[in-house]
Amino acid sequence: MQGKKILIGITGSIAAYKIILLVRLLTKEGAEVKIVMTKSATQFVSPLVLSTLSGNPVLTDLSSENEWANHVMLGRWADYMMIAPLSCNTLSKMAYGVCDNLLLAVYLSATCRVGVAPAMDEDMWLHPTTKQNIEQLKSQHVDVIPVGFGGLASGLTGEGRMAEPEQLFSFLEKQLMGSPIHKNKKVVITAGPTYEHIDPVRFIGNHSSGKMGIALAEAFCMAGAEVHLVLGPSHLKPKYTDIQVYHVTTAIQMYEKVMEHAKSAHIFVMSAAVADYKPKSVLQQKHKKKNGELHIELDLNPDILFVIGQQKTNDQYLVGFALETENAKENALEKLSSKNADCIILNSLEDPEVGFGKDTNKICILSKNGQTVDFPAKSKSLLANDIVSFISKEVNHEVA
Ligand code: PMT
Repeated sequence: MQGKKILIGITGSIAAYKIILLVRLLTKEGAEVKIVMTKSATQFVSPLVLSTLSGNPVLTDLSSENEWANHVMLGRWADYMMIAPLSCNTLSKMAYGVCDNLLLAVYLSATCRVGVAPAMDEDMWLHPTTKQNIEQLKSQHVDVIPVGFGGLASGLTGEGRMAEPEQLFSFLEKQLMGSPIHKNKKVVITAGPTYEHIDPVRFIGNHSSGKMGIALAEAFCMAGAEVHLVLGPSHLKPKYTDIQVYHVTTAIQMYEKVMEHAKSAHIFVMSAAVADYKPKSVLQQKHKKKNGELHIELDLNPDILFVIGQQKTNDQYLVGFALETENAKENALEKLSSKNADCIILNSLEDPEVGFGKDTNKICILSKNGQTVDFPAKSKSLLANDIVSFISKEVNHEVA
């Protein structure tokens, strides 16, 4: 980011405090940062902190002390203007070209690309007028950074959280250091466990939480891809509402949903822990306990990875995961070839602090072209970024 000129516009929202960290991340990487704030934004975060961190005066008014703030030159100075957080109020003004403060004057005269990171309560975010205003900005080629799901200022939980500073940073990095690496790519990801019903109250399942697959969906979304996430039973959901989520329960349902996209997707990432077997028949009533053993007959489930591997074209890239308790690398290599995958991501089971249900993972990527790349234990979000970069190099035939 060395020498990149970034203009940040801050509007009145509690999420404004996160911009302190964003400014820190940008300046640490050598970017030059200038900041414009609306009057109400100054009630949420101190201009003094921001001017100290950015090394530039923070501007709030069209004029101060008989001096005019040259909004035209500010808009021309920047390589990228990011308005974050974007309040509902400023959103509506931007959509209709209102110009009643310095931030809006800079926006209207900016010649650089502009991105916005909305932040609002869920009800405001879901209001039809807000949706219309967002569409209006998109039609004017403003980049809209997806909102997240989580705790909101109202105390409620829902959609409308501004993206985290690290995500805003990596978004800016991708915008300024080249085009988003997976732009125009359609990615289908399976995640989480599957549950195979035995009777109305029991099932065969596993400990997958969906965290790894959700982190991958978010990383691909940030890299510009159109993401379709086929998610088994999980209480988690991705932060970005741009991600199309299909909730499924059984392996058959997961298989059917993936097959709907089998021809149109460019990249498939099979991170779900799919049950290999399902009960041959599902009891209509709860099974009554009886003395002696209980035998449940099982049938094979479809192997989604295998089926996609058989029918994929040369333009489609297939990623499988492997969870092995013995001869890990040999078994992963065998999977790579028998499933006709382009790479296999092998989870390490050596460390009890990583893997199933945990926030961290340790992986090794084995690719069809003979590469083996080991990654140290780190958060699933960071690993997802590594995987997304690795796949981008593979898809674009770059040397890793
Ligand atoms: O969800 P988390 O708690 O974050 O945990 C992440 C994870 C450990 C589940 C994930 O990183 C992972 O390893 N997922 C795959 C686990 C697994 O089922 O591995 P496997 O070796 O049994 O299957 C191999 C591959 O075939 C996988 O890509 C799997 O999605 C796929 N498969 C398996 C069976 C089947 N019927 N259809 C499939 O597509």
